[in-house]
Amino acid sequence: MEPITVKKIAITGAGQMGSGIAQVAAMNGYLVKLHDISQAQLEKAFGQMKVSLSKLHDKGIISADARENALGSIKLTTKLEDLNDSDFAIEAITENEAVKLDVFKALDNLLPKKAIIASNTSSIPITRLASSTQRPGQVIGMHFMNPVPLMKLVEIIPGFATDPAVTAATIALAEKLGKQVSQSQDYPGFVVNRILMPMINEAFNVLHENIASAEDIDKGMKLGTNQPMGPLTLADFIGLDTCLAIMRVLYQGTFDPRFRPSPLLTKYVEAGFLGKKTGRGVYTY
Ligand code: CAA
Repeated sequence: MEPITVKKIAITGAGQMGSGIAQVAAMNGYLVKLHDISQAQLEKAFGQMKVSLSKLHDKGIISADARENALGSIKLTTKLEDLNDSDFAIEAITENEAVKLDVFKALDNLLPKKAIIASNTSSIPITRLASSTQRPGQVIGMHFMNPVPLMKLVEIIPGFATDPAVTAATIALAEKLGKQVSQSQDYPGFVVNRILMPMINEAFNVLHENIASAEDIDKGMKLGTNQPMGPLTLADFIGLDTCLAIMRVLYQGTFDPRFRPSPLLTKYVEAGFLGKKTGRGVYTY
């Protein structure tokens, strides 16, 4: 395979992750097309990028020119076909496998033959997404952390059939986006969520068993193990629905009882208390 040069990046899914990825790509000189099926979601994402870029400018991290150039290099679209001239596509839509498989098939049909398709999934097997396309060697996992503009890590997950040149090109791209990479094989939860989510889940078990209050659990872990925020605060920030979905993937992918989702976490999700995004999770916002 010839060396792969990436200039034009397409992102589909303009939620929290997709808009963060689009912003970071634009800040690093790439031409970015951000796609979503909802115009309202695209406008919301653009608003979030403006706020984020202004914060970074106010803190002296980027210049006013860099802020304007980044905003100027992002095109928004509701038509997936508009992504057809991209070298590298990053899928960041909802964590629903059936929907992701449809999007992978559509991207495979419209992107240039050489283009790479990456998924920002935190839990769905890359190998399964890859084998729904005619280019399984050019499909890879590229798992960004939230909030994307501030977090330094990208997990790189080659699928079973991913070409090593594609892995190398994806690592090079992540580094050009100012990130550091850690590589994982394609097994449930990869590395970060395989270790993080059981900790969060156990915090819910400790709360459920009335061993300590939410505040004491968070204080203990934050100050006792030097984490930027306690596990229950972090769960509210990630979204309790996302945490539960990842626990289910770990459990169903291994049938190991140590990954059993906490009944209290399940109860919060059933109640629609999903964390910061709904105004109520473990804490009220
Ligand atoms: N762009 C720019 N600024 C942002 C931002 C963004 N997208 N998101 C938040 N900020 C700003 C806030 O507005 C706030 O700004 P002010 O100082 O002006 O109030 C500041 O960042 C946050 O305040 P902190 O005092 O917490 O700031 P910090 O810079 O020390 O730390 C942090 C911020 C790095 C996000 C830190 O809180 C942290 O590390 N949190 C944990 C994050 C984490 O663990 N993420 C991983 C989740 S797991 C995951 O993503 C994988 C998955 O699949 C679920």
